[in-house]
Amino acid sequence: MADRTLGAVPSPTVATEASADARMLAAEASRRRTFAIISHPDAGKTTLTEKLLLYAGQVTEAGQVKARRNRRAAVSDWMEMERERGISISSTALRFELDGTIHNLLDTPGHRDFSEDTLRVLGAADSCVILLDAARGVEEQTLKLFEVARERRVPLITFINKYDRPGLESLALVDEIERELGLRAAPVTWPVGRAGELRGVIDRRDGGFYRFERTAGGATIGAEQRLDAAEAAVEAGDDWRVAAEEVGLLDEVGAGLDRDSYLAGSSTPVFFGSALQNFGIRMLLDALADLAPAPGPRPGADGRERELDADFSALVFKLQANLDPQHRDRLAYVRVCSGRFERGTQATNARTGKTLRMAYAHELFGRRRETLDAAFPGDVVGLVNAGDVRVGDTLYAGEEVRFTPIPTLAPDRFARLRNRDTGRYKQFHRGVAQLESEGVVHVLHEPELGTQAPVLGGAGQMQFEVARYRLEREFGAAVAIEPAGWTVSRRIDPADAGTVARAPAGQLLADGHGRVLAAFKDRFALERFERAHPEVALDPFIVR
Ligand code: G4P
Repeated sequence: MADRTLGAVPSPTVATEASADARMLAAEASRRRTFAIISHPDAGKTTLTEKLLLYAGQVTEAGQVKARRNRRAAVSDWMEMERERGISISSTALRFELDGTIHNLLDTPGHRDFSEDTLRVLGAADSCVILLDAARGVEEQTLKLFEVARERRVPLITFINKYDRPGLESLALVDEIERELGLRAAPVTWPVGRAGELRGVIDRRDGGFYRFERTAGGATIGAEQRLDAAEAAVEAGDDWRVAAEEVGLLDEVGAGLDRDSYLAGSSTPVFFGSALQNFGIRMLLDALADLAPAPGPRPGADGRERELDADFSALVFKLQANLDPQHRDRLAYVRVCSGRFERGTQATNARTGKTLRMAYAHELFGRRRETLDAAFPGDVVGLVNAGDVRVGDTLYAGEEVRFTPIPTLAPDRFARLRNRDTGRYKQFHRGVAQLESEGVVHVLHEPELGTQAPVLGGAGQMQFEVARYRLEREFGAAVAIEPAGWTVSRRIDPADAGTVARAPAGQLLADGHGRVLAAFKDRFALERFERAHPEVALDPFIVR
C-alpha cells in the first residue's frame, strides 16, 4: 500500500501554489521567441541583427554591434583570430524585449566553414529567419542550412534584404524560393517599385501602403508611415498599380498567409525590406511576435514529450572555452526546455549521470555577460565551468529526460593532425579531447592506424585552423595539419564496415563513440560505391 505521508497528497495551498507556478511558467514561455537567422555570408545578417537591437532599444544607434570593417571590435567577436581575419566564428545569443515579447536571437557564424555550429544552433531554436540578398536569391550556403532546418521542421520566415538597391524581380524571387526551397512562398508584404527604386511595400494583410524613406546612415528607426490605397495610388502612381496587380496575381494563385502551414514548415511568410535602411524591420519583429512559435513541449529520445511545466531541463548546444583570456573558463550555452532555471540549483547530465550545480550562470549579450538568476523555457543561459558537458547533452532536474541529439552533417573536409613535439604528448591529447567535446572538429581515426594518428573532420579548412590555433595557444601543443584526400563522407552502420573496407574507393573512419564513417575521394567515388552496394545505408547526417 502506498505510503501516505504528508505531501504525497498535496494540501490545497500547495496545489494552488503549484498551479500558480505552472501558470506563471506558461505565461513566461508564451512570450518568448527563440530564433536564429540563417543566410549566406554578406546577405546582411550582422546588419539585420544590429537593427533588431536598435528597434528593441538595446542599442541607441546602429553600428554598436557591428563595428565597421576597419575598426572591428564587434560585440560578438571574441577570438583574436576572428579579429585578425575580420570574420565572426563564434555563435552568441542575444536577448531583447519588445512590447512584452522576449526575443532570444541565437546568432550563427557567417562563414560556411562553421556550418556545423549553425546546425547546433538550429537544434536550440524554435524558428528561423532566412535572410536572402535581393540581388542573389537563394545561395548555396543558405540551401545547405535550410536542408537542416527543414529536416527539423523549423518554421521559417523569409526576409528579402537589400531591396533598396538593384536586384531580382520580386516575382522571380518568390519563384526561386518555391523552386529551391520547395516551400510555398506567402508574401506578407509586397514591394512597390522595383529593387533599387523601392517606394514602399503593400501589407497584404490590410492592403495598406508603407512608405519607404531612407534614414540617415540607417542609424535611427525608420518612419514606415502607412497610407491607404487611394493615397498610395497618388503617391506611387504606376509603381503602385503594378504592385497592386501583382498582389492580385498572388491572391489568385493562393499565395496567402497560412499560419498552420508555416508552423508545419511547409510554407514561408515572405517580407521585403532593407536592413541597412531600416525598412521592414518593424514588420519582421511583429511577425516574430505574432506568427513565430513560442517554446512548446520538446520530444525526448524515447518519444515522450517534456512538458513546459515539468521540472527544469535544458539542451547544451554550444560550448566555448576561454572567452576571457584572464579567466580561462569554459562556458556551456544551454537552452532551457522546461521548468524554471534558478541559479545555484542542481541538475543531472543525462549522458554521464553526474550532477552539477549551476552556480555561475550568465545572460549573454555577445561578449558582455551579466549574472542571471532565473530563466524560462526558450531562454539561453551560459553556464560557467559546467564540468564535463558536451554539445548535445541534456541537463535535467526531477524526472529523467534525454533530448534527441542535434544532428551534424557528415564531414566533407578532412585533415591529418600530427603532434610535432612528442614531449608534449599529454597536452596534445588533452587539447584534442577538449576540442572534440566542444564540437570544434570531429576527431576520427583510420581503424588500421589506430587512435594515435587522428584525422580531423569538418565542414571547412578554417575549422582546422581554429583547432590548430587553440591547440597551440591554449594547450601548448605543437601540431601540424596535413590535408587528407577525401571530400565527402557518409555515416554507415558498423556492420557494413567490412564492405567499405573492401571497396577500392572507400576509406573507413571511426570516432571514439562507436560511429563509423565511409569517406570518399569525391562525389563520383561515392556514387560508384552507392551503385555497387545499394544494400549499404549511407547517412549524410552523423546523429539523428
Ligand atoms: P553578413 O553578416 O551576412 O555577412 O552581412 P553584413 O551585415 O556584414 O552585410 C554585408 C554588406 O551588405 C555590408 O556592406 C552591409 O552594409 C551591406 N548591407 C546589409 N544590408 C543591406 C541593405 O539592406 N541594403 C544595402 N544596400 N546593403 C546592405 P559592406 O560594404 O560589405 O560593409 P560595411 O562597410 O557596410 O560594413
